[in-house]
Amino acid sequence: MVAVVTGAGSGIGKQTAVQLAEDGAKVVLAGRTKSKIDQAADEINEGLGQPAAVSFQADVTKEEDVKSLAQFIQQTFGDLHVLVNNAGTSGKSSIMDMEDSEWDRIQNTNLKSVFLVSKTLGRLMMNGEETTDRAIVNVASLSGHKAGAKIPHYSSSKAAVINFSRSLALEFAPYGIRVNSVSPGFAETPLTEEGLKNKRFEEAIQRNTALSRVGKPEEIARVITFAASKEASYMTGSDLLVDGGWLIT
Ligand code: NAI
Repeated sequence: MVAVVTGAGSGIGKQTAVQLAEDGAKVVLAGRTKSKIDQAADEINEGLGQPAAVSFQADVTKEEDVKSLAQFIQQTFGDLHVLVNNAGTSGKSSIMDMEDSEWDRIQNTNLKSVFLVSKTLGRLMMNGEETTDRAIVNVASLSGHKAGAKIPHYSSSKAAVINFSRSLALEFAPYGIRVNSVSPGFAETPLTEEGLKNKRFEEAIQRNTALSRVGKPEEIARVITFAASKEASYMTGSDLLVDGGWLIT
């Protein structure tokens, strides 16, 4: 099995790449920062004691980078079974204070990239052997299900990822490609590191989460790898909320 994870240099993406490799996949770690994806790929290969991971530098908001990634996968492996669109970013601003450029930065990174990568790598997946189960998993967010203070650009991009995934699921089903999204709640990653340094913020998360704690990247990754696996062979067009019970409180 060949898998690609975008934004695989840290956090949830890195853990997803680790788990896919442990489950026997050849994994392409795609990301913007070469040092981070190189190091993550090295760690995976050293941990497994065999070469399972390779890195490829790509900015997923840039069509030429995404095309180069597709070419690399085609030339190296000739096929692609699993795509995890994980790359994403956040920011903090009210609607009235937000510059257009900040709106575009978040929408391009979180939403346009999912369109670009799914379209370009999806073509590669469609051309593969018909009998194999194939899957795309898009990383959305709890914030795609609710409004949050000063993250209107982030929450709207993630809500769109959830619904884009449904459209993609409909369009790709005839090709045997399942598409689902995973919506994490708060997990300890570089993305949330700054916020979690604030004790009051951490306490608010604990108060608002039924399980009373922040999640670990590996707990989110396990749900992503489940959605990508044959165990989920009858699941497409779904969103899996992994939020420690935030929405039910
Ligand atoms: P992270 O910051 O560790 O991971 C994001 C990765 O994406 C980074 O390695 C970054 O370099 C990469 N990236 C960003 N823009 C890119 C681009 N244009 N091209 C290629 N790579 C790019 O943060 P985390 O938390 O692991 O985030 C992973 C995903 O999970 C994101 O989509 C995020 O929105 C989502 N998420 C995270 C939550 C959390 O609490 N950590 C909660 C809900 C969703």
